[in-house]
Amino acid sequence: MTPTLTPPATQHQIEAFPNGSFSVRNTELNECMHSTIGPWVEAQEIYLAQSNLLHCLATASQVPHAAPWVIYDVGLGIAANSLAVLEHLGQSQTASASPWIDRVSPQIEMMSFETDLDGIKRALQRPELFPFLERNQEIVKTLLEQGVWTGQLASGIHFHWELKLGDFRTQLAQCPKADLIFFDLYSPKSLPELWSYQTFQLLAEKCHQPKNSLDLRETTLITYSASTAVRAALLLNGFYVGKGKSTAGKKETTLANTRKTSLANPLSKDWLDHWQRSSQPLPRDLAEPFNPEEKEQISSKLSAIIRDQALSS
Ligand SMILES: C[S@@+](CC[C@H](N)C(=O)[O-])C[C@H]1O[C@@H](n2cnc3c(N)ncnc32)[C@H](O)[C@@H]1O
Repeated sequence: MTPTLTPPATQHQIEAFPNGSFSVRNTELNECMHSTIGPWVEAQEIYLAQSNLLHCLATASQVPHAAPWVIYDVGLGIAANSLAVLEHLGQSQTASASPWIDRVSPQIEMMSFETDLDGIKRALQRPELFPFLERNQEIVKTLLEQGVWTGQLASGIHFHWELKLGDFRTQLAQCPKADLIFFDLYSPKSLPELWSYQTFQLLAEKCHQPKNSLDLRETTLITYSASTAVRAALLLNGFYVGKGKSTAGKKETTLANTRKTSLANPLSKDWLDHWQRSSQPLPRDLAEPFNPEEKEQISSKLSAIIRDQALSS
């Protein structure tokens, strides 16, 4: 199916960072798609390294005839995160380090959500500035033109990559459950409605909800944001939430999981104290109307969740 989209609503320009990398700036929001570490380092450090991808895939693949392993790439941007996954899974070292791949022939479905292809089209006009795009130009062009790219990677993994054009909140209804979610949209400050309680509620409905430790499917959500309101929205929607690693550009990132025991660094009492003091403790769709009594109720709920998380750490 050829993707269609209303004409680009925004303009994008290429921006050089001091470390020699390049990103794309949305001039309407006046925000770059990436932090100053650059798209590829960000993709590797925040998203790929923290996803524990092969381990999770190996675990889920233990079930005979397991359904494809599904990644939501929210939003596609200039495809740094998605290409980091594709390249990592395609490497021949991946195959030699993971002999189980040969045995189970795992299948990956990656859904990349995007409302505006202007940014990636702009980057593709200067591929030499974006080596990850340059190396994978043919694949990316097929994805943009046909809405899908399917191939068998050198590692033996079957990879099906789909472009979901339009607001991901409306696209989710037709998508299978996710095993891994990269939540990488413009900042909560610029687009608070995309980081709302309701948004994470929609995502929570598309996650595996392991009932016991023998369930092999769980869902991990990774985002660069460490916002108090975003973490509260995730917790109140049933995710267990922990601190993710810091990068050159960020003191902390956020990892959420549907399985309590999968969090390496769960939020603890310190975070709750911080939440109490925060001037923006909740996403906007919960914050209004917001009176002391409601705050007390939410505070008790969060305390119980944080206590529960701490018990398994
Ligand atoms: C920060 S950039 C993503 C960077 C990207 N992950 C990468 O690896 O290059 C955010 C992207 O999300 C897209 N976006 C914004 N709102 C969206 C929505 N409601 N649904 C899907 N994509 C959206 C933007 O157009 C933009 O390209």
